[in-house]
Amino acid sequence: MKKNQIVVGCQWGDEGKGKVVDLLAAEVDIIARFQGGANAGHTIVVDDTKYVLHLIPSGIVHEGKECYIGNGVVLDPIGLIEELEVLDKQGIDYRGRLFVSPATNLVLPYHKLIDAIDEKNRGTSSIGTTKRGIGPAYIDKVARNGIRVADLFAPDRLKKRLEWQRRVKERYLADSTDERADLDRTYDMLIGMQDTFRELVVDVSRALFEAHRKGRTILFEGAQGVMLDVDLGTYPFATSSNTTSGGALTGLGVGPKMIDEVVGVIKAYTTRVGAGPFPTELVDDVGEHLRQRGDEFGATTGRPRRCGWLDLVQLRHAIRINGVESIAVTKLDVLDESAEIKVCTEYELEGQRIDQVPLDLSELGHVKPIYKSLAGWQSPTTGVTDFAGLPPKAQDYLNFIAEDLGVKICLVSTGAKRQQTIMCHA
Ligand code: GDP
Ligand code: IMO
Ligand code: MG
Repeated sequence: MKKNQIVVGCQWGDEGKGKVVDLLAAEVDIIARFQGGANAGHTIVVDDTKYVLHLIPSGIVHEGKECYIGNGVVLDPIGLIEELEVLDKQGIDYRGRLFVSPATNLVLPYHKLIDAIDEKNRGTSSIGTTKRGIGPAYIDKVARNGIRVADLFAPDRLKKRLEWQRRVKERYLADSTDERADLDRTYDMLIGMQDTFRELVVDVSRALFEAHRKGRTILFEGAQGVMLDVDLGTYPFATSSNTTSGGALTGLGVGPKMIDEVVGVIKAYTTRVGAGPFPTELVDDVGEHLRQRGDEFGATTGRPRRCGWLDLVQLRHAIRINGVESIAVTKLDVLDESAEIKVCTEYELEGQRIDQVPLDLSELGHVKPIYKSLAGWQSPTTGVTDFAGLPPKAQDYLNFIAEDLGVKICLVSTGAKRQQTIMCHA
């Protein structure tokens, strides 16, 4: 059945959304990004070629698929052009099938500078941002100070809005010798990008509406994960957008009836990059084993990811908020050698057992995870192409997760490559 799906991360990002979107993209006509920016790093491996996408929807790797960047995204134009150059080198022809909304806010050099200054000033309370200017760009959007793609084509307005930036950002920019603080330079750069953007700009909301009316199918690609959602995540240790499925609607200008299904991507264990609470974090050899075997180093910043066991309490929150009915479980192969696999089923908070996240998510820093211990399968899963071919204990592990969460499994990933996947049919 052809359907419109939203794909979201159910943990702290890096669940393998890029791979999952790439696989599901084969079945749809259009792939659309609805939030975040170049803080994302979505990896796709096709044969021996690795693609890492930050802003461009992961569907671009599929020849002929249309890709859209919605108004909910904050777009770094320098980053976009660099990404296009890499695609050119990798032989991906994106011309005529990549489109951007004129209402998309831009991430400009001064946003990255401010991100770095803010992080430094936060000192020991720093968030560990990707320093891609995401927070400062969303601040401008909400404060109605942002510069949007449409402004590129109205030079007088652009100039005026940059002059306003000089005033509102005075404390950051006035005495700075960093070239990113130079607003005249930014103006010239943006004017120089007019031709590139002229080819990309369309009314995204309308294009998706009309495509849908014609029976074409759309995959809505999320970035980050539920626990990094600015409203529903571990605030303030979060990103600055709505990473959850609701963000797909406002981030692209589509109505809820267009959505048929929400697919949640879940890594078979948990990782997090940056600061903030992480109840099942393992700071021992077991965590190090997961990091090495899972190659858990950030696709955007190269930072080592913090690793820990799967957390069902956290995932119950993710499933509920996103309306997930179907999950894609990734990186199962990383657990292949483990003799014991633990799953957090409850937390203990102030002597009480709880099976849902606490009312105040910052309490996640004080909960003690209660684990169920499962025997590992200790045999390879990579290369297995049907569920029944998995080691019985691996099947038990997956079924245990799906049953607890009340969802069905649509896909299991056992390696980074496209073929290293089990597609599960209902
Ligand atoms: P995303 O941000 O959710 O798209 O995830 P990332 O691309 O940042 O990180 C996931 C990493 O795991 C990438 O390096 C992928 O190539 C890799 N990966 C994805 N699925 C699997 C899998 O099933 N097994 C293994 N070993 N690696 C995987
Ligand atoms: P993908 O799409 C993992 C984290 C940062 C930091 C916090 C805020 O690849 O899953 P920001 O730069 O957004 O202001 O940083 O969010 N973060 C991610 N962690 N995967 C991501 O994206 C992330 N994007 C942001 O590490 O803790
Ligand atoms: Mg990533």
